[in-house]
Amino acid sequence: MDPIEMNDRPRRNRRTPALRRLVRETRLQPSDFVWPVFVVEGEGVRQPVEAMPGCERYSPDVLLEEARKAHDLGIPAIALFPALGDELKDPMATESMRADGLLQRAVRRLKMALPDMVVITDVALDPYSSDGHDGLLHEGVILNDETLPILAGMAVAQAEAGADLVAPSDMMDGRVLAIREALDDAGHRDVGILSYAVKYASAFYGPFRSALDSAPRSGDKKTYQMDPANRREAMREVNLDVAEGADMVMVKPALAYLDVIADVRAEVDIPVAAYHVSGEYSMVKAAGARGWIDGEAVMAECLLSIKRAGADIIFTYAARDVAASL
Ligand code: PBG
Repeated sequence: MDPIEMNDRPRRNRRTPALRRLVRETRLQPSDFVWPVFVVEGEGVRQPVEAMPGCERYSPDVLLEEARKAHDLGIPAIALFPALGDELKDPMATESMRADGLLQRAVRRLKMALPDMVVITDVALDPYSSDGHDGLLHEGVILNDETLPILAGMAVAQAEAGADLVAPSDMMDGRVLAIREALDDAGHRDVGILSYAVKYASAFYGPFRSALDSAPRSGDKKTYQMDPANRREAMREVNLDVAEGADMVMVKPALAYLDVIADVRAEVDIPVAAYHVSGEYSMVKAAGARGWIDGEAVMAECLLSIKRAGADIIFTYAARDVAASL
């Protein structure tokens, strides 16, 4: 029977703002967000990131001020990425394991000032590596197993500084287990692992790599990050990471991978995060700045869609703007 004859009229539920609010299936809240931030050496430093309007690199003291604003907006977590000068980068990413490295100092200060803010640190070689790769590079080849102790050492240094969650984004096989064992051995049983379990070799990471000057100096990341064409393979990655001890898993990027987010949500019973990455953010900002779209509305719609697809947690550079508008 045709819907009009059946008198089935879905529009009844949309008649007034209050009705729409009542039947709304998905709601964005400040507590959904993790705010990713770039940290740079110095005092009083704010460096705008050209390809990411509204984002800046902060020195650790400025980071405190800015993190406090996020905290006051109800954002529960922050993810830190260090922007290092070339003089601190080497093939072994040595700087990543130093107790007084930039990231570790920033974490310590932040946890001292805002103890109830969840601090998430990225575990991968790229911001520290003179090769710009997430794993150890030898004659053009990534050495998976030789990378694991470096990732584990980095995670322990971050835990020692006070990180609540370490977030391996490197996509080496076996790293979650290696990190879990190292954390436990070092007495950090309560530090969790948020694994970038399903991370695609995406062109959407461009602005992030320019923010950190961390683009691969040779080749690409396709031998470790996933092929964007693959959906079933995501389940293999997720199940491995869960078996190895991940406390939360992530899909990245987000908007072009909503099908994968929905699959992962159905597959696991731990929290699922999605990363609305730099390129996704910059596209909205760029078109918004030209008046081609309503940037604020589009940003909120993107994040809502990511939540509707099944993400429990959303990493987004727009966290503060969107939280302030809710
Ligand atoms: C590093 C890392 C990347 C991002 C997060 N962690 C870049 C990459 O893998 O090249 C990208 C985040 C973004 O684009 O916003 N391992």
